[in-house]
Amino acid sequence: MDRLDQVTADGYLDKYEAAAEEDPMGALALLTGWLRTDWRPLFAELRARRPVLVTPGFVIVTRFAEVAEVLSRGEVFTVAGYAPRLEAAVGGPVMLTRDGTPMNWREKGLMQVMLPPGDVPRVRELAGRAADEALDAAWPSGRIEAVGGLFRRVCMAVCAEYFGFPGPDPGTLSRWSRAVMTDVTANLGGDPAIHTASVDAGTEMMGYLRGLLAERRAAISAGAVPPPQDVLARLLRTELPAELALDDQRILINVAGLLLGFAENASGSMVHVVQHVLRNPEIQRSVVRAAAGPGPEEFDRHVWEALRFDPFLKMIVRTCERDHVLAAGTPHETVVPAGSPVLAAVASAMFDETAVQDPGAFRLDRPAYIGLHFGHGPHACVGAYPGAAVVCETLRRLFRRPGVRLLPPPDGTVQRDRGVFPDRFLLGLDEKGM
Ligand code: HEM
Repeated sequence: MDRLDQVTADGYLDKYEAAAEEDPMGALALLTGWLRTDWRPLFAELRARRPVLVTPGFVIVTRFAEVAEVLSRGEVFTVAGYAPRLEAAVGGPVMLTRDGTPMNWREKGLMQVMLPPGDVPRVRELAGRAADEALDAAWPSGRIEAVGGLFRRVCMAVCAEYFGFPGPDPGTLSRWSRAVMTDVTANLGGDPAIHTASVDAGTEMMGYLRGLLAERRAAISAGAVPPPQDVLARLLRTELPAELALDDQRILINVAGLLLGFAENASGSMVHVVQHVLRNPEIQRSVVRAAAGPGPEEFDRHVWEALRFDPFLKMIVRTCERDHVLAAGTPHETVVPAGSPVLAAVASAMFDETAVQDPGAFRLDRPAYIGLHFGHGPHACVGAYPGAAVVCETLRRLFRRPGVRLLPPPDGTVQRDRGVFPDRFLLGLDEKGM
């Protein structure tokens, strides 16, 4: 099957270091640009020559072992960097903004119970239904705008029906998610306008959720029949001893976290999988065969392997709380200085030849542990089961349609908000869109 040979293009590091001698900030801008445009060869070179690269702005970690260490050691590599932005938007601490606190332990455990693997069949059915409706609606035109017209549309349907968080309408839900997550993950320069837009959207969202909670409680007291079977309803029905129970504010923040953790990651990941598949004819043939098959397992393996080649989330950010030695006892032993933002490059780790056999080959027999799509360690994704179900089933329904194909630019080019979040990706369906 189509394979990607890892080219170690020696040259980025030398260019960066030469530039840094003259102008450290200019050199950092160069590196940041390569992280966007040349990440694959840049990471290959860093894994080989400097797996822990310390710069004046951040530290990049590129090998599997050290990426796993950074994401596992929450006492050293913390999520403190997320806190100011995410907490300002939702009005309090979130599990992704605190490390190892009693609140985190309790709420992560509780939310895992609320999002169990047993929900997967139901979530697949829901995502599949929403995807088929969107594809049926687009079919006569021979093309579909896959981001708004399919991927985000399915995510918002899941948020409404499964989480029990419909929002005033799907467009508003989608806007809240984008505004907050842009500030949390794509505002490295600290643009105050992006921050204000996030706080405004978050305030609006939390106000809506307070109203929703009041409505749901009133319906419960009135004995509404049948009670809704969604995650919010589960949270409201769960009776815990007083010292463990969540108050209303904690319930609302966790419900907000369902939307915020889900929509951008799921829709972005779907865009990346489709792009990779459609650019590689042999993989596409295999994907189409698997989508037509009786069960989802084989198809799902294609999804995660395709995403490994081009993950939507390429790096996970942590803050180093105290000087820490990475790659200890190896020729690459490096001190990560206290206070550094650390970029744990999961996209690179999943191509590390010391951890992943023949990483350039598209293989369906990879062990699950090499997949870092849902993070790793204490902050690994709490919604991994239903999240995976939505991504896989939506794509399975898409690839069951005949003639799914990339369109020539400009229509077929993925348009992104701030160069990060896919906003538009037109796909051809059947022969009419040619
Ligand atoms: C039902 C859908 C989903 C929900 C409710 C959800 C929610 C969350 C939450 C609340 C966290 C923070 C966990 C913590 O701090 O302990 C998280 C982490 C994460 N999620 Fe999800 N998520 C969903 C789907 C997805 C999908 C589809 C992807 C990617 C394919 C994804 C990737 C991640 C990653 C990489 C992290 C780790 C972030 C970090 O370590 O900084 N999630 N998710």
